[in-house]
Amino acid sequence: MTALLTATDVTRVYPVKTTQSWLTKRRSLRAVDQISLELRAGQTLGLVGESGCGKSTLARMLIGLIPTTTGEVSFDGKPVNAERNAAWRALRRDMQMVYQDPLGALDRRLPIYQQVREPLVIQGIGSREEQHTATEEVLTSVGIGSDLFPRFPHELSGGQRQRVVMARALVLKPRLLVCDEPVSALDLSIQAQVINLLSTLQKERQLAMLFISHDLRVVRHICDDVAVMYLGKIIEQGPAAQVLSKPAHPYTEALISAVSHPKASQTSRKRILLRGEPPSPIDVPTGCAFHPRCPIAVAQCQAQTPYLTHIDTGHTVACHLRASLNHQQVVNAC
Ligand SMILES: Nc1ncnc2c1ncn2[C@@H]1O[C@H](COP(=O)(O)OP(=O)(O)OP(=O)(O)O)[C@@H](O)[C@H]1O
Ligand SMILES: [Mg+2]
Repeated sequence: MTALLTATDVTRVYPVKTTQSWLTKRRSLRAVDQISLELRAGQTLGLVGESGCGKSTLARMLIGLIPTTTGEVSFDGKPVNAERNAAWRALRRDMQMVYQDPLGALDRRLPIYQQVREPLVIQGIGSREEQHTATEEVLTSVGIGSDLFPRFPHELSGGQRQRVVMARALVLKPRLLVCDEPVSALDLSIQAQVINLLSTLQKERQLAMLFISHDLRVVRHICDDVAVMYLGKIIEQGPAAQVLSKPAHPYTEALISAVSHPKASQTSRKRILLRGEPPSPIDVPTGCAFHPRCPIAVAQCQAQTPYLTHIDTGHTVACHLRASLNHQQVVNAC
């Protein structure tokens, strides 16, 4: 199946100022570094990695909210760029985003019914009657009854607010939904409700979805594939079930080992503690950026940058040791 969204070598560099011994220097921060990925209709791709690794920056470039420094993004064969012109507005109809903070995403002064209807009014879609029907339908589909329609955001619970945000994103019938930590502000029981609802809507509507989360269990539950980011780069990508049960990259292993397992005492998996803090994206280490913290690093890792290499169907890893080990195994098996 052809890709709906394609990113090719997408990079985002921010000019930043650093201060050292009273001297202010202008430096470059590579928030996202030469990432390429594809997303098909109906596919859910999870994006995981430590705070500050570039997940939100990548997501924003993919839907044209911020420009790329270099590299291209295309949606349905058309270039996505951040210029606010008619072509951008038409594309934005098909690409919607759900953010972490539902209260921040909603207008405190407008009843929720009006806010969900607003995108249809702005885009001039349908008659008044059709707009009303579409608004009512989408609110009902996310479990918001008509008794709540006149309420203001602060008069709803956190879970209800996040469902209103989802309704607002879905009312234009987008083909791509980008969810940036959509449930991290909600308590656990509400999280499960919202995740299940999102999963159902995604399947019903054959939505392509980019799902950013720190919660690997949620990613495994909802995503077909997962991409693991470290300091602006994807270091492992593949089917979620495979990557999360048999990770190839030592960083992915460490992320997974940090998730408490209900049957921890019965599994042989030990918690892997990473050495040191994540390095600054202003001073990215040479070679493999993970090498200063990597428990298996060798001299080559400091000297040479590893690139994503196929180790199994649809499963790639950027690690000199794990990629060659796997390659070795394949050669031995032949
Ligand atoms: N406008 C900006 N100017 C300068 N640096 C920025 C800007 N926006 C983001 N950054 C930097 O880019 C890097 C990536 O930020 P980003 O928000 O994409 O991370 P993230 O993976 O989404 O983190 P989190 O999990 O905490 O949301 C960080 O080092 C951040 O400080
Ligand atoms: Mg973020």
